[in-house]
Amino acid sequence: MTTASSKIADMRENYTAGTLRRSDLSEDPYMQFSNWFNDAVAAKIRDPNAMILSTIGSDGIPTARTILLKQLDSRTGFGFFTNYESRKGKELAANPVASGIFLWKELERQVHFKGNVEKLSKEESEAYFFSRPYASRIGAWVSRQSRFIENREWLVQRDDKFRKRFPDTGEADSVPLPEFWGGYRLIPSSFEFWQGQPSRLHDRFSYEKADDTPNWSIRRLSP
Ligand SMILES: Cc1cc2nc3c(=O)[nH]c(=O)nc-3n(C[C@H](O)[C@H](O)[C@H](O)COP(=O)(O)O)c2cc1C
Repeated sequence: MTTASSKIADMRENYTAGTLRRSDLSEDPYMQFSNWFNDAVAAKIRDPNAMILSTIGSDGIPTARTILLKQLDSRTGFGFFTNYESRKGKELAANPVASGIFLWKELERQVHFKGNVEKLSKEESEAYFFSRPYASRIGAWVSRQSRFIENREWLVQRDDKFRKRFPDTGEADSVPLPEFWGGYRLIPSSFEFWQGQPSRLHDRFSYEKADDTPNWSIRRLSP
């Protein structure tokens, strides 16, 4: 243990990949996010749309997990899809707020945001669900997400059951949207963009929105 701990303590990087100055920033955080997202795609980062989503439980303790961002615009916010009866689904039903984090570590960049969460309409969820591959649509039926199960066999048998119930006809709607599955949008009320810098003098900017104005106030934060 002592050896492993001392190795961990010695792990550190110096960040030199880029800089972030006030003059680099878009006035619109969605545009700033899109610019960085496009950079992550261009850098061929795997799962550039992987986002850590944190929700709050009834005990006041946050739970974080990775989800995939599937939709983004300044009207509809950050859209993602999941099982409404999962732990995150239950937590969002009771307390519809969340935070999201993107870490693009190859670019030494992190984006953080938080705000209210709304369920997408059934039509919006269907539009995405029907675009998914057959196995993914079946998978949504198979998983009673976040519940304890006895063994893997339970999953395999349910997969078989739902493949028989909804055969792959090649039509998008051959597998219907389960009532317990769909999307949410996280609508940030604040953002933070972080760019690693040498000597721990990292660049960090926050965007905050006053309720009664369409403009975002941008301020530099101490790293
Ligand atoms: C790269 C990656 C992407 C994931 N994408 C999703 C997703 O889009 N939707 C989802 O429900 N779970 C996704 N998961 C699984 C979640 O992290 C999590 O295990 C699951 O949603 C159950 O979370 P909960 O019990 O906190 O509700 C993903 C996991 C990883 C590692």
